[in-house]
Amino acid sequence: MDRRCNRRDFLRQSSTIGAGLALANLGNIVGATETDSNTAQKLSDDKTLRIGFVGIGVRGSCLLKILLELEGVQVRALCDIREDRVTRAQRWVEEAGQKIPSGYSKSDTDFKRMCETEDLDLVITATPWQWHVPVCVSAMEAGKHAATEVPAAVTLDECWQLVETAEKHGKHCMMLENYCYFRKAMTILNMIRKGLFGELLHCEGRTQENWIRENWHIFNSDGTMGWLGEHLAKRNGNPYPTHGFGPMAIWANVNRGDRLDHLVSMSSKSRALKLHAEQSFGKDHAVAQQAYLQGDANITLIRSVNGVTFTLYFGGQSPQPWSPEHKVQGTLGTCIGELFDYDARADGWIQAKVYEKGSRWANYTNYAETYDHSLWKALGQKANKYRAWDWSGAYDYLMLYQLVNALRRNNTPPMDVYDAATWSAISELSERSVANKSSVQEVPDFTKGKWKNNAPTDLAQV
Ligand SMILES: NC(=O)c1ccc[n+]([C@@H]2O[C@H](COP(=O)([O-])OP(=O)(O)OC[C@H]3O[C@@H](n4cnc5c(N)ncnc54)[C@H](O)[C@@H]3O)[C@@H](O)[C@H]2O)c1
Repeated sequence: MDRRCNRRDFLRQSSTIGAGLALANLGNIVGATETDSNTAQKLSDDKTLRIGFVGIGVRGSCLLKILLELEGVQVRALCDIREDRVTRAQRWVEEAGQKIPSGYSKSDTDFKRMCETEDLDLVITATPWQWHVPVCVSAMEAGKHAATEVPAAVTLDECWQLVETAEKHGKHCMMLENYCYFRKAMTILNMIRKGLFGELLHCEGRTQENWIRENWHIFNSDGTMGWLGEHLAKRNGNPYPTHGFGPMAIWANVNRGDRLDHLVSMSSKSRALKLHAEQSFGKDHAVAQQAYLQGDANITLIRSVNGVTFTLYFGGQSPQPWSPEHKVQGTLGTCIGELFDYDARADGWIQAKVYEKGSRWANYTNYAETYDHSLWKALGQKANKYRAWDWSGAYDYLMLYQLVNALRRNNTPPMDVYDAATWSAISELSERSVANKSSVQEVPDFTKGKWKNNAPTDLAQV
């Protein structure tokens, strides 16, 4: 199963599912509790959220389609450097029964004009990495909240720019880390909060991708370098840390009672990119002749101020199955294994196991129902329908639902600008460490001390 959004299937299925889901508004979700009905009641008084969307490629299309399913959302403006993508998305918005949004595609900074011209509450970006911060900063400077795809920023300077702009203009900036919404990640969070594993000691996470097989923006078909290839050619560290780190950061209360202190990082040699270039275009081709810095494997070790350790693996190029395998270790027990929760992926994957209070290994499934997270209990049935749109549709739905409803109620989104900055900062810090024989890198305190009093999050609020 290719887990990337399949555009053809997506478009074919969307109209059928859309019709079905339109019937299930917030008040009549199957399995919703009494509290959820009250929630629905409160929401009906809330304002409409006016959204501008930047970058409507593979990922942006998936997010936009789900946004159009949410109550209280109006998509008012669309921006992409490709005019055909703006036109296509304008059609989707119109088909969803909304007014045709304004389109922006004059240049690669036309999002700035959009932010300055349009009356919007929120700007979302799903552009290539290097555009995330420019879009979010333009949005916040123009008085809009911002949300960005992962990672939020490429450099440490950019991380600070996000934090300082959000603070200066009093705006929210949420990074859309959908891995935090995996059902299993949230169940484990619940198990941790209920004390099943005792005091937290250590977590392991990974971003293990197969970008070459999936042909994900490394080389374009005409032999030029894709946007991801540009990053991998010039950088060497963990360029994509947040899928692996996000769930662990929530489990371990990073920036909410604890904070990251320092890290060290090491990369293997780089092989897969050059081999891929040679095999695809021939040894004499420009992309096969150039140097590639990014090691095929990167391992980063992080320690928190309170003494929790984290291991973070990154591998995007060499042949390997996509696997968000994780481990959480506490004084009373551990849970280790595959974090992905969809049954269809159960074939030969590392099934999660739990070892609780010195008992025997037990299958994670023994715990899944008892410790299911309240958000999944309330909205899981509806969220699961979006798996037909994309492998991550269920998580994207829950994440966007929380973002939209937090902002409609003038609440802080569940993941804030300090999370975005801290999780993304691992990129440049790991690169600096790799470049200096795994030297120790201090992790900046983006919260400037606020981490001491910030309450932990259980990702349950809307
Ligand atoms: N959370 C996830 O699971 C997940 C999955 C895939 C991708 N992503 C993230 O989503 C983002 C986009 O990935 P993708 O696969 O959709 O890439 P993509 O190349 O398919 O889409 C990017 C879009 O942005 C447009 N664009 C580029 N520069 C622009 C600019 N300056 N202004 C406006 N539009 C611009 C492109 O024309 C394209 O339509 C990346 O940050 C990626 O890391 C996240």
